[in-house]
Amino acid sequence: MAGVTFKNITKIFGKDVKAVNDLNLEIRDSEFMVLVGPSGCGKTTALRMIAGLEESSEGDLFIGETRVNDVHPKDRDIAMVFQNYALYPHMSVYDNIAFGLRLRELKGFFWQVFNAGEAKRIKQDIDNRVQDAAKMLDIGHLLARKPKELSGGQRQRVALGRAIVRKPKVFLMDEPLSNLDAKLRIQTRAELIRLHRDLGITTIYVTHDQVEAMTMGQRIAVMFNGVLQQVDEPETVYNKPANKFVAGFVGAPPMNFLEGKIEGGKFVSKEATFALPESHPAKSHNGKKVWFGIRPEDIYDSHNGVPVPVTADNTFKAKVDVLEKLGAEDTAYIVLGEKTMTATLDPASRIESGVETEFAIDLDKIHIFDFESEAAIR
Ligand SMILES: Nc1ncnc2c1ncn2[C@@H]1O[C@H](COP(=O)(O)OP(=O)(O)OP(=O)(O)O)[C@@H](O)[C@H]1O
Ligand SMILES: [Mg+2]
Repeated sequence: MAGVTFKNITKIFGKDVKAVNDLNLEIRDSEFMVLVGPSGCGKTTALRMIAGLEESSEGDLFIGETRVNDVHPKDRDIAMVFQNYALYPHMSVYDNIAFGLRLRELKGFFWQVFNAGEAKRIKQDIDNRVQDAAKMLDIGHLLARKPKELSGGQRQRVALGRAIVRKPKVFLMDEPLSNLDAKLRIQTRAELIRLHRDLGITTIYVTHDQVEAMTMGQRIAVMFNGVLQQVDEPETVYNKPANKFVAGFVGAPPMNFLEGKIEGGKFVSKEATFALPESHPAKSHNGKKVWFGIRPEDIYDSHNGVPVPVTADNTFKAKVDVLEKLGAEDTAYIVLGEKTMTATLDPASRIESGVETEFAIDLDKIHIFDFESEAAIR
């Protein structure tokens, strides 16, 4: 096994499409790293460079200690699972899984004839590996079937099996669950986590789905426009987003933002004024334009279950436009001047739509970003 390191990696397509821009990222040995970001941010390109399917324009790429820029894809000892995995339709599940191994390890027909003993041993080893992988993926009973006789989820597992039997140094997965329905996706997500725990193979997993990233990644790397925005454990990305983009991308419903200024230790905007907590670093930015951010779950009905004291410093009055009852929680769309904010509320709160209500926020959970650079002020 091995880690993967990007050192100042840039990929330019054609004259000026910078798909990946000066990427520095160290994926540790045995780590489950998720690359996440909106469509077109460069995730697949980054993955394809590791696989050797795309050449970098600048920078150095390492697998383990080895610089692999000039190493042929088949010598990189990685296995890749794509969104559109193609199984061989005329082959059984067993042969689909074993095919790559046979090709790689059994060499040609004449070699097998002249090395019968060795060939037999290799065939036995391949059989063991296929059986082990099939057991692990719970497709042991499907080995004789053809792909067309399988469900989408089962086909997905065959594609995974094909990657697992290779026992690669690194797994690369590009949105491998996107063809599955919602329920199967959640189930397979858990299976992939278990698989990683059992095999301990360094895995780099690409998705545009922030929930998938948060639930699967030991660390997640958030990308935007080819630029790495933040690499951290999911909790840190959520609680301490490095900038406004990351703050808005991770979390659903997304973080609310207000545009305003720091004045006398307070955040002041057209819509509301909130005191900054005692030690907040934004206090020293008097007069500066900033973005204020608050997550929907950190806004409360001021009369119900606010975990902090309710004062003039952390409250605002506004009308609820729409209230969605979801069972475990309610989502309220609150109209604040020209802005609509989202709050996830305890269903026990008696809020009604169309009524002006007092809301309170937890000031320890606010986020302040520089207006120009959009970097978090902390
Ligand atoms: N072969 C190519 N030639 C030219 N431009 C390309 C090529 N491949 C990708 N790009 C461009 O590079 C950028 C990054 O593409 P990439 O496929 O890495 O995005 P992605 O993050 O995987 O997006 P998605 O979530 O949609 O799969 C995009 O602007 C894309 O149009
Ligand atoms: Mg992609």
